[in-house]
This record gives sequence, C-alpha cells and structure tokens, in this order.
Amino acid sequence: RRLRWTWRLGYLSAIAGIAYIGYGVYKDRHPEPQVDPDPSKKTLVILGTGWGSISLLKRLDTENYNVIVISPRNYFLFTPLLPSCTNGTIEHRSIMEPVRTILRQKKGRVKFYEAEASSIDPERKVVRIFDNSEIRGDITETEVPYDMLVIGVGAENATFGIPGVREHSCFLKEIGDAQKIRKRIMDCVETAAFKDQSPEEIDRLLHMVVVGGGPTGVEFAGELQDFFEEDIKKLVPEISDRFRVTLIEALPSVLPMFSKQLIEYTESTFKEEKINIHTKTMVKKVTDKTVEAEVTRPDGTKETVVFPYGLLVWATGNAVRPVVKDLMARIPAQKNSRRGLAVNEYLVVQGTRDIWAVGDCAVAGYAPTAQVASQEGNFLARLFNNMAKTEALESKIRELSSSLNLQPGNSAAISREIEEHERQLRRIKDIKPFYYSHQGSLAYIGSEKAVADVTWFNGNVAAAGSLTFLFWRSAYISMCFSMRNRLLVINDWLKSKVFGRDLSRE
Ligand code: FAD
Ligand code: NAI
Repeated sequence: RRLRWTWRLGYLSAIAGIAYIGYGVYKDRHPEPQVDPDPSKKTLVILGTGWGSISLLKRLDTENYNVIVISPRNYFLFTPLLPSCTNGTIEHRSIMEPVRTILRQKKGRVKFYEAEASSIDPERKVVRIFDNSEIRGDITETEVPYDMLVIGVGAENATFGIPGVREHSCFLKEIGDAQKIRKRIMDCVETAAFKDQSPEEIDRLLHMVVVGGGPTGVEFAGELQDFFEEDIKKLVPEISDRFRVTLIEALPSVLPMFSKQLIEYTESTFKEEKINIHTKTMVKKVTDKTVEAEVTRPDGTKETVVFPYGLLVWATGNAVRPVVKDLMARIPAQKNSRRGLAVNEYLVVQGTRDIWAVGDCAVAGYAPTAQVASQEGNFLARLFNNMAKTEALESKIRELSSSLNLQPGNSAAISREIEEHERQLRRIKDIKPFYYSHQGSLAYIGSEKAVADVTWFNGNVAAAGSLTFLFWRSAYISMCFSMRNRLLVINDWLKSKVFGRDLSRE
C-alpha cells in the first residue's frame, strides 16, 4: 500500500514537472501585448547584454521608462558553460538566449540597437554608437541621448602588451572564441595525423598550451583533457601517446581565489589527468609556434623556457574596454581608478550624474564574476523601479495637495490619502546601498570532478570530487537563463555521454 502511494506521488510530481515546463514554454511562445513607450517618461539607455545588463532588464518595470538597449551582441551568453563549448560537450546555441526573446517578455516595449558604444559624453548626455554590420558594408555612426545611463559593457581580454599574444593566441570570452578553439583543436589533430609528419612537428601540433591558471584556464584545461581521453584517443589512436596539455601560471599556484585544500586537490587531479602545471612561470613572448616564459626556480634564479605549441589559449583575466577608458579620461574623479569605473555604494559612477555601472566594467570592490554582475543588475532594477514609484507618488501628492483648496468639503479624505501616499513614499525611499552576498565559487577541473567553496549558514564549506561535479552541474542548470537553455544543455550532456563528442571540423 505504501509503495502504491509512493508511485502515485512519483506520478504526480512528474506531471507537475511536465506541466511546469509546458507552462514555461507556452508563456515564452505566447507573450502578452506590450505597452508602447511613453515619450514623457525618462529615457534609460542600457549598454551591453551580459550578466549585469540582462539581470537589470529581467527585473526592471520597463513601462516606467523609455528603455533602449545597445549591444554588439544580440544575445545573452551563459559564460559559466562556455569552456564546455570548446570541445563540443555543449553546443554553443544551447547557452545563448536571444535578446529579442528576453525583451518581448517585458510589459513595456524596449528598443534594441545592435551596435557598439564608442564614446559617452556625460556633459551632453549622449552615447555615440556605431553599427558595423556586414549587410551595410560601411560603418554607420550616430548618437543616442539619455536621461539615465547604465554601463554594463564587461571587460576585454588582458594581454599586458606581451608581444605576439593578440596575433597568435585564442581567447575564451565569446562564442566565436570557443568555436575557433574547437576548430583549432581538430586542425592540430588532423594535421598531426597527416602523412609523413616529423615526430617534432607532431609533438608541437599536439601540445596544447593554456596561459593563466585562473578558473577560465583551469576549466578549459580540464575540458580539453576530457575531450582527448574520452573521444580523440579512441577515434585517432595513432596520436594517443603524443597529446599533451600544459597550464602556465605566473603565481605559485593555480586557482588563487579557492581555499588551499582545493588548490592542492586541483593540482593533484591535474597530475592524475596528465595535465602539466608550470607555476611561477611568466609568459613574456609569443610567436606563431612557441611561447617563451620566464621560470622562477626554487632558489630564486630565473630561466627562460620555450614551449612549442599547436594550440595556445590565453586566459590571463580582464582589461578595461576602450569606451570605458575614454569615459574615465573625461571624469577627473576617475583619475586614480585603473581596473574600471569606480562606483559608489549605489553603483553610481563616481564624478557623474545619472550614470551607473555594473559588472566587470565597474569597480565596486568585488571580483569580476557573473555572480557579482547579476546581483548588481538586480539591485539597479530595484533602485529604478523604486525611483519610478517615488516620482509617481510625489506627483500624486502634489496633485492631491493642490486639490485640497479646490475641494474643501473633501479635505479630510484627501488628507488621509496624502498621508497614506507619504507613508508609502517613506518606505520606498529608504533604499539600502548595494550589498553583495557571496554564494561561493565553483569550478570544473576535468574527469567529471569539480571544486566548490560554498557559503553555508555564514560559514564556508570546501568540497571536491565527483559529487561536487553533480552539484556543479545542477547549480548551473538551475542558473541557465531559460527553460529552453536548460533543456538544450541537458540534451547536449546526454548526447555527448551516449554518442561521444563530435570530431568534425566545421
Ligand atoms: P559581460 O557578460 O561580458 O557582458 C558585456 C556585454 O557588453 C556584452 O553583451 C557585450 O557584447 C557588450 N559590449 C561590449 N562592448 C560594448 C560596447 N562598446 N558597447 C555596448 N555593448 C558592449 N563568473 C562566475 O561568477 N561564475 C562562473 O562560473 C564564470 N565562468 C566564466 C567562464 C568564462 C569562460 C568566462 C570568460 C567568464 C566566466 N565568469 C564566471 C565571469 C563572468 O562571465 C563575468 O564576470 C560576467 O560575464 C560579467 O558580466 P558583465 O555584464 O559585466 O559583462
Ligand atoms: P583570472 O584573473 O582569474 O586569472 C588569470 C591568471 O593568469 C592569474 O592567476 C595570473 O597570475 C595569470 N597570468 C597573468 N599574466 C600571466 C602571464 N604573462 N603568464 C602566466 N600567467 C599569467 O582570469 P580568468 O580565469 O580569466 O577569470 C576572470 C574572472 O572571471 C575572474 O574573476 C574569475 O573569478 C571569473 N571566472 C569565474 C569562473 C568560475 O567561478 N568557475 C570561471 C571563469 C572565470
């Protein structure tokens, strides 16, 4: 009898799950009619369609403003799963969400321009943008005026001016980067397997070098080794003893933001996976076939080492985008800021009016992560929703106050209404500054293992291994932007597990 109930409960939960998914899909496909922008309302311009800007848009009551979104990318990218696109574990479109779908779900209509902001003039309150779409053939520049501006343009790849990096390496920030890496891996494999290659050339082509032992470099190295062990080795056995992955890091250890035990776990797992880690090794120069690095030996002496490579992935962190640099140069209060736009506790860009910044381009005292960017975006949505409500209440109070004299018979009722509005106003106006709540750090390290430093009841819990990998997967599935993304990612995971990854080079 108990078993029968368990079955019934199981059926009910399955039906509820399917109904929930079905409702989500139906809602996405049948959006409600939208309210047209009201020209009397303020124009809110949002730059970027990344973690910060999209989190803001998701929660913003868009009917309160004339919202214009400007970004060269007409989709949101779920970056935490980008390393899995470099080997085909996940197909790139599964982690992209079109911005048009996101905007169509909003109550108030939002304009979107696929363009890049080249400069911001805080005096004239205009953003200069350019569209370099292929269909035009030329570059079109124009200006967009704003009343309020949110800058969420992220960051670009840091190269520290090291010669040869831009010309010869692959980065890992955008979808195009992941596609380029995937092609390049297969190019190296097929060229190494080509007729009459010399042993030195085969070794070079199959040496995959990753520079930067932060989470991007570590996750990519893990994914690369998985690709080799689970697929390439089986399908191209003749090169199986030559494939090597090397991770180069300037500091004494990889993943410096994780706890010591997780760093040690990662390093020992990499050893088992046969990924070579070279710490205290600073890359100084890159050519088309080699990486030159300076190694600091235990006795403090320095030595130059040359690594020949077939694929070079450069993952040494973030640098400030030109549009942000340009704005910083125009604002005296930003003189001492190096890593991006210094903001106050309400995310207002220091030294400006009506300009806010979120995510990797803002310096608010936190690490440049998706977690920070999305919390900042959510905070601004609350702030702007409140500002709109405040303005509406204030104008209602003004209107009621002026009607007090005109309707003396009604004065008691009007006064009560004014009091009620003032009470609401006090509650709304009391907005606390931005507060970041750190949920923890997670990273995949290959061989279906992950490391996690998670915040748990005000304490820290460090976990690593296969169970943590399942936690990593479930955490990221729940964080995916939409039901569509979730289903596609699960499908990709199943597909690559059952059939193996696709080795074709597009
Ligand atoms: P982005 O998400 O980079 O978005 C910037 C947006 O601005 C883009 O839409 C871009 O097209 C647009 N833009 C660029 N230039 C202009 C311009 N001139 N004008 C207008 N628009 C412009 N963080 C985590 O917390 N957890 C993770 O697991 C994690 N994994 C990551 C994995 C990888 C491979 C990478 C690269 C990063 C990862 N991060 C992770 C970091 C995280 O992705 C960033 O911190 C986050 O994307 C920052 O959000 P953002 O909105 O500031 O910028
Ligand atoms: P990072 O800044 O975290 O790490 C870059 C590493 O490159 C540093 O350890 C640095 O010492 C090293 N480096 C710099 N120059 C070098 C050189 N010339 N030679 C050798 N090593 C050099 O950069 P990353 O990994 O791209 O991450 C950027 C941001 O995104 C970080 O805030 C990170 O936390 C976040 N992120 C988070 C992830 C996660 O939580 N799973 C995954 C990926 C990124």
